[in-house]
Amino acid sequence: MAKILNKYSMILAAFMALGLSDAARSEILGKVLSPDKSIEIDIEQDNDGRVLYSVSRYGNQLVSPSVMAFLLKGSGRIERGLEFKGAKTDTHNETWELPWGESRYVVDNHNELKMEFVEKGEKHRSISVTFRAFNDGIGFRYSFPDKNMGDVQIEDEMTEFNIAPKSEALWIPAGEPNRYEQLYRKTPLSEVTQAHTPITIKTKDGIYMSFHEASLVNYSSMWLRRTENQTLRTQLAPGPDGVKVRRAAPFDTPWRTIRISDTAGGLYESNLELNLNEPNKLGDVSWFKPMKYVGVWWQMHLDTKSWESGVKHGATTENTKKHIDFAAANGFKAVLVEGWNEGWDGDWVANGDKFKFDKPYPDFDIKYLSEYAKSKGVSIMGHNETSANICNYEAQLDKALAFDDKYGIKAVKTGYVQDAGGVTACDNGVKQNEWHDGQRMSVHHLKVVTEAAKHQIAINPHEPIKDTGLRRTYPNWVSREGARGQEYNAWGVPPNPPEHEPNLIFTRMLSGPFDFTPGVLSLRGRGGQKILNTISRQLADYVVLYSPIQMVPDLPENYEAHKDAFQFIKDVPTDWQKTKMLSGEIGDYAVIARQDRNSNNWFIGAVTDEFGRKVNLSFNFLDPKKKYIAEIYRDGDGADYRTNQFAITIEKKPVDVTSNIELFLAPGGGAAIAIKEVK
Ligand code: NOJ
Ligand code: CA
Repeated sequence: MAKILNKYSMILAAFMALGLSDAARSEILGKVLSPDKSIEIDIEQDNDGRVLYSVSRYGNQLVSPSVMAFLLKGSGRIERGLEFKGAKTDTHNETWELPWGESRYVVDNHNELKMEFVEKGEKHRSISVTFRAFNDGIGFRYSFPDKNMGDVQIEDEMTEFNIAPKSEALWIPAGEPNRYEQLYRKTPLSEVTQAHTPITIKTKDGIYMSFHEASLVNYSSMWLRRTENQTLRTQLAPGPDGVKVRRAAPFDTPWRTIRISDTAGGLYESNLELNLNEPNKLGDVSWFKPMKYVGVWWQMHLDTKSWESGVKHGATTENTKKHIDFAAANGFKAVLVEGWNEGWDGDWVANGDKFKFDKPYPDFDIKYLSEYAKSKGVSIMGHNETSANICNYEAQLDKALAFDDKYGIKAVKTGYVQDAGGVTACDNGVKQNEWHDGQRMSVHHLKVVTEAAKHQIAINPHEPIKDTGLRRTYPNWVSREGARGQEYNAWGVPPNPPEHEPNLIFTRMLSGPFDFTPGVLSLRGRGGQKILNTISRQLADYVVLYSPIQMVPDLPENYEAHKDAFQFIKDVPTDWQKTKMLSGEIGDYAVIARQDRNSNNWFIGAVTDEFGRKVNLSFNFLDPKKKYIAEIYRDGDGADYRTNQFAITIEKKPVDVTSNIELFLAPGGGAAIAIKEVK
């Protein structure tokens, strides 16, 4: 239901809404309200003909007028002298279904305003902006609609986010060598330098906002650079030369998004970015089944086995067979095997061109293993470490996927180990360095995902580009890394601090699934160094850190040694009907409840930072007509991540919709609860 609005009637309406004094400063061009009218986006124009947007909630300005601009190579800025040509509105209310996810159904209810502008004078370039207001936030995207603009070379996008109320921020720096694998910083917003998204803030009035993007396709990632006070400005991830995005008009940019909520949980439960992605383009993807998997993996990170061939080689037929047996005995569906193919010998990070993706080492009998796995109801999970040499990987992609197909491989973990800016591409015969989150890599990842889909193979990149909700459009893009995972607890450089998960939940996890690899019940890394958690915390991570594929990474003998706790890992699903955050605070703690997609059972995960705390659980989300038994795995008396990591109490209690439980979380601890329906 689109209708053309006349410029003058909109100005008039805005005059009436805002009063004449505002209008005298700048011309109000339009506004769009969320369906519940809580959130409002206003678009205005200053005396120089620049277009600014602002965002308010219940009349309080959250984002004050912020400039929208581009710098184009050869033809300068698109910023001043814009003439408003007209607007269209639209409204949308739909509930759609995810084939797998944290929730089965997603409500997309928004109002839209699309505004068209043309530069005055001889350049006469066209640009339009589509704004969408949801009850839980906003999004806007630019379009370059005029094909006469030909090849557009964007040197930078300069969208501003001028945050009005004094705020604290939770963020990681962008542009650093270690990509997204950084410890989070909680600082005043006025101390942010240059951040990756999602970046999450809390205003002095207790409003939570998260800034991110949706549908990052054939474009460079948005970093946010603080220019002054509380103003963040888009700075696109670099390209190999001064140009960050090259596109032929007409094209659209990704959506710039702001989640807004008055609770930390509301921020977490929002599906804003998924709603701003296009619907599933792959059709029936029931061939991908959410699952848990094990791996010939943790041993390498402990340095007791190697990726390289030789006496320490991990990916041997025998070692893999042992892991297949372990998976089959415990109901896990796949075995990831790393170091199985030629290319790891020598300095594999530097020599990405040596990898062969269809050449197993001689001591890894893929034919035998794939048949053996199949006979046990398990499959091999592929691993394609590329060392970020996409030149080498793209050249072999067809062969690699054909190989996977031949051996019943249903999911592939890809890897791009290399410092930021160290990707090797070689388009048109020219070797160039790219960034992990630049335009070239946004194209690369989608190429791998869409080619893999033709073979019904799911993809899980490590050292990836960030998640912007593309799993909605390409549901075989099932998980990724893109933050500090459990592997840091093996290396201990330093290990992840206890606040890491409460930080991730309100930042990285807002973007989508994370292959964190929870569940190291031995709580020990390389050389026996401590993981800074309690044992029940490792269980809770399966619930709070969502991924449709969850690893069970510890050594089989370590699970054998912690059989009671291991039961929760066997029981916890990886596909959900519903998700609710029962309580939480950014960087401090979170309690998340999820209903299994395939039963009436619910699972709860609770995690805290370095401080112990009590949390009150009310079970009012349960079905009032049903009875349940809660199997509670909680920190035992005196549990503490420093001194008493293994103290765990496992108990069963009947619960129903009226139940309340007070739960104690130890410092660095957590709790995991399986709530099973009693039939
Ligand atoms: C880094 C990944 O995060 C890790 O899981 C993998 O084992 C190594 N790269 C080797 O590919
Ligand atoms: Ca990594």
